[in-house]
Amino acid sequence: MTRNNVLINIALSSLVPLFLALLLVVIPTPPFLSVLDDSLNCHHHHHHKPSADEEDQTSIGSICDTFPTALLPLETVDTSVLCVDLNGCCNFTTVQAAVDAVLNMSSKRSLIWINTGIYFEKVMVPRSKPNVTFQGQGYKTTAIVWNDTANSSHGTFYSGSVQVFSSNFIAKNISFMNVAPIPGPGVIGAQAVAIRIGGDQAAFWNCGFFGAQDTLHDDRGRHYFKDCYIQGSIDFIFGNGRSYYESCQMISMANPVPQGSKFVNGAVTAHGRASADENSGFAFVNCSIGGTGRVWLGRAWRPFSRVVFANTVMTDIIASEGWNDFNDPARDQTIFYGEYNCSGTGANMSARAPYVQRLNDTQASPFLNLSFIDADQWLQPY
Ligand SMILES: *[C@@H]1O[C@H](CO)[C@@H](O)[C@H](O)[C@H]1NC(C)=O
Ligand SMILES: *[C@@H]1O[C@H](CO)[C@@H](O)[C@H](O)[C@H]1NC(C)=O
Ligand SMILES: *[C@@H]1O[C@H](CO)[C@@H](O)[C@H](O)[C@H]1NC(C)=O
Ligand SMILES: *[C@@H]1O[C@H](CO)[C@@H](O)[C@H](O)[C@H]1NC(C)=O
Ligand SMILES: *[C@@H]1O[C@H](CO)[C@@H](O)[C@H](O)[C@H]1NC(C)=O
Ligand SMILES: *[C@@H]1O[C@H](CO)[C@@H](O)[C@H](O)[C@H]1NC(C)=O
Ligand SMILES: *[C@@H]1O[C@H](CO)[C@@H](O)[C@H](O)[C@H]1NC(C)=O
Ligand SMILES: *[C@@H]1O[C@H](CO)[C@@H](O)[C@H](O)[C@H]1NC(C)=O
Ligand SMILES: *[C@@H]1O[C@H](CO)[C@@H](O)[C@H](O)[C@H]1NC(C)=O
Ligand SMILES: *[C@@H]1O[C@H](CO)[C@@H](O)[C@H](O)[C@H]1NC(C)=O
Ligand SMILES: *[C@@H]1O[C@H](CO)[C@@H](O)[C@H](O)[C@H]1NC(C)=O
Repeated sequence: MTRNNVLINIALSSLVPLFLALLLVVIPTPPFLSVLDDSLNCHHHHHHKPSADEEDQTSIGSICDTFPTALLPLETVDTSVLCVDLNGCCNFTTVQAAVDAVLNMSSKRSLIWINTGIYFEKVMVPRSKPNVTFQGQGYKTTAIVWNDTANSSHGTFYSGSVQVFSSNFIAKNISFMNVAPIPGPGVIGAQAVAIRIGGDQAAFWNCGFFGAQDTLHDDRGRHYFKDCYIQGSIDFIFGNGRSYYESCQMISMANPVPQGSKFVNGAVTAHGRASADENSGFAFVNCSIGGTGRVWLGRAWRPFSRVVFANTVMTDIIASEGWNDFNDPARDQTIFYGEYNCSGTGANMSARAPYVQRLNDTQASPFLNLSFIDADQWLQPY
């Protein structure tokens, strides 16, 4: 027990300054923390470094007195539960330690239950560990946060605060954040991914994705996002995934642009389909787009980029031309950019770029239901 106390105290004393430092970095960027509950900020007050006379078993014990044991899911024949708590009140204090404890190619689902808190760590789920679930306590109260950039991590693709390379990954009620400094105009090497999803058959429910440039690397495979909150500026959902975004909120945090200016300073998507043979694309259904700046719905990172927005509400932050061909008119023949039954000022299609498709019911239908990601083969009900 004494040994545990020492470990807990070391963990706390090293966490608190980092937490304060990162909070300071984060505070000037309004959308970042404004959605997070006060409970996150309170967390630091409750769990301050104990002073000398508080350092006894009673005060340490009291931290764990409020541990919500009743919320912890039970193990079943096909699910192992691994518990993560910042204060050391259950199996692990970091998410990565729990991932490390998952057996290779386990036939069970490994449910990593993550207590409320901000976990400052870079997390990697290797290809050898499929069927892992990250279950937080709410995307406003539980977050995995790091601050790598393209420069600090051998390129954008490795900058993710969380990197998932395995299949059948699930996340519920948790946020993924990259709090690297927001790049000013023209700055290079500052791309900062919050999560890279490089495995097939991944599902995200009630999750938050926070960053600026390149927030959500929807890299490859079939992915499902439901009721998620996604914040960024330039290309903030990018990659070559085949993904279905249902009832998600996309919030641009690009700098405000003066009224009347044609200046565009962001893009919601940059889909990376490279050839007609690839069955990839992003479908957004029943979503909303808002925030600040002036942004394109998508730009053609690769020539066969494919994105559809359906039944989506868009504010006036959407540039009237809607989309961008990456300044390569040759791509106009091969990109597939469609809009269907969207609403709001930003959905006005009268000045759209010529290659943008106003989809009819028949053309839209493949993107409107879950067969787009073969969900019947793999997607579990919530
Ligand atoms: C987690 O802690 C519980 C309770 O102490 C224990 O039964 C379980 O085996 C631990 N799990 C792991 C993966 O260490
Ligand atoms: C798990 O798989 C990885 C990659 O194949 C391997 O490097 C590692 O040694 C394996 N771990 C165990 C415990 O078998
Ligand atoms: C992962 O889960 C899927 C579906 O639940 C199952 O088909 C697959 O066999 C599991 N993977 C492993 C390695 O057990
Ligand atoms: C991440 O944050 C830490 C602590 O503030 C800082 O020391 C480090 O330089 C930052 N890394 C990057 C790439 O900005
Ligand atoms: C996730 O959060 C939602 C909304 O607060 C809640 O209804 C749901 O039960 C939570 N799910 C899990 C698995 O904790
Ligand atoms: C990234 O590295 C390049 C080359 O060293 C440098 O010019 C640039 O300023 C760096 N960017 C950031 C955000 O540090
Ligand atoms: C979209 O919203 C409509 C109306 O609220 C609802 O009928 C439909 O089931 C929703 N579709 C999806 C895919 O969420
Ligand atoms: C079109 O969008 C409206 C909301 O603006 C919704 O009520 C209606 O169900 C949608 N139509 C179809 C065919 O999805
Ligand atoms: C759509 O935009 C055009 C100008 O590009 C404008 O004339 C028209 O009134 C707008 N339509 C709606 C419904 O706002
Ligand atoms: C939808 O558009 C396609 C391609 O232009 C056309 O072949 C088809 O007849 C249209 N369907 C409906 C229901 O309008
Ligand atoms: C879903 O879309 C597929 C392909 O467009 C179609 O065959 C199927 O009937 C649709 N299912 C539903 C429930 O609408």
